[in-house]
Amino acid sequence: MENRKESSANKQLIALVTGANQGVGFQIAKALANNGYIVYVGSRNPENGAKAATEIGDNAQAVELDVTKLATLSAAAAHIAKEHGYLDLLVNNAGISHAGKPGRTLQEVVQANRASKASLDEVRTVWETNVFGTIAVTQTMLPLLRKASVARIVNVSSGLGSLSWIADPATWEREHFDLVYGASKTAMNAVTMAFALELEKENIKVNAVSPGFTATALNNFQGTDSVEVGSREPIRVALDTNGPNMTFTGPEGPLQW
Ligand SMILES: NC(=O)c1ccc[n+]([C@@H]2O[C@H](COP(=O)([O-])OP(=O)(O)OC[C@H]3O[C@@H](n4cnc5c(N)ncnc54)[C@H](OP(=O)(O)O)[C@@H]3O)[C@@H](O)[C@H]2O)c1
Repeated sequence: MENRKESSANKQLIALVTGANQGVGFQIAKALANNGYIVYVGSRNPENGAKAATEIGDNAQAVELDVTKLATLSAAAAHIAKEHGYLDLLVNNAGISHAGKPGRTLQEVVQANRASKASLDEVRTVWETNVFGTIAVTQTMLPLLRKASVARIVNVSSGLGSLSWIADPATWEREHFDLVYGASKTAMNAVTMAFALELEKENIKVNAVSPGFTATALNNFQGTDSVEVGSREPIRVALDTNGPNMTFTGPEGPLQW
């Protein structure tokens, strides 16, 4: 603990956002840079990451990071360790909604992802990114987070991951709950809790947050919020250094797990 305090108290705040080359992740990275953080813009495609980092400005730096490729995770961690030696904030934002034919409408994807017909390969691919990727990035970055004076992890989940909400017959979105994406976000919430419960002893906070239903590539730009509006709650949680541990919130406030 003493080491942690000595190593980063009163120092520059450092953040890593996965999948930050576009969409909600880009908005989070931009907001962090505008609020004094040095931000590593994680991108599985280095060119897209470099373009996003240039657009954000001086406080942003691209880092190649594919959450399904462990070698890119250790290389990113080694890079951050060399440049700063600690990490104050990890935002696990990277996510996919399907692994099938690109360019389909949201309705087509939801139909194909139904529990009775979803291909096991597609379930595996999406969970590999949304669930196992989140675990892998978090475990890889933990040594750096432990070196910050007060570290936080923010997992970008989805209201769809809330079993309590989906179980309510009045919930409009229950029709969209599927095995491929919805259930992966439920699993991500469970992963959030597992880390939050273990790491609270070390004063590392772990929270889950849902954007609004946001027009991004994830839903073929059919979301009803603009990316700026839909990203507000993830940005609030990412910037909140004094909030509680193990929360799950969305644009309208607390969500049930
Ligand atoms: N949009 C919504 O309505 C909504 C609602 C609830 C939750 N969310 C969550 O919000 C997060 C961001 O999604 P978004 O809406 O901003 O969608 P998006 O624009 O498609 O962004 C997703 C990001 O994740 C990256 N990504 C995908 N697979 C990756 C991998 N294996 N390794 C590293 N990066 C990877 C993408 O990279 P590429 O550019 O290379 O594809 C992209 O940068 C996701 O976790 C999503 O589930 C979104």
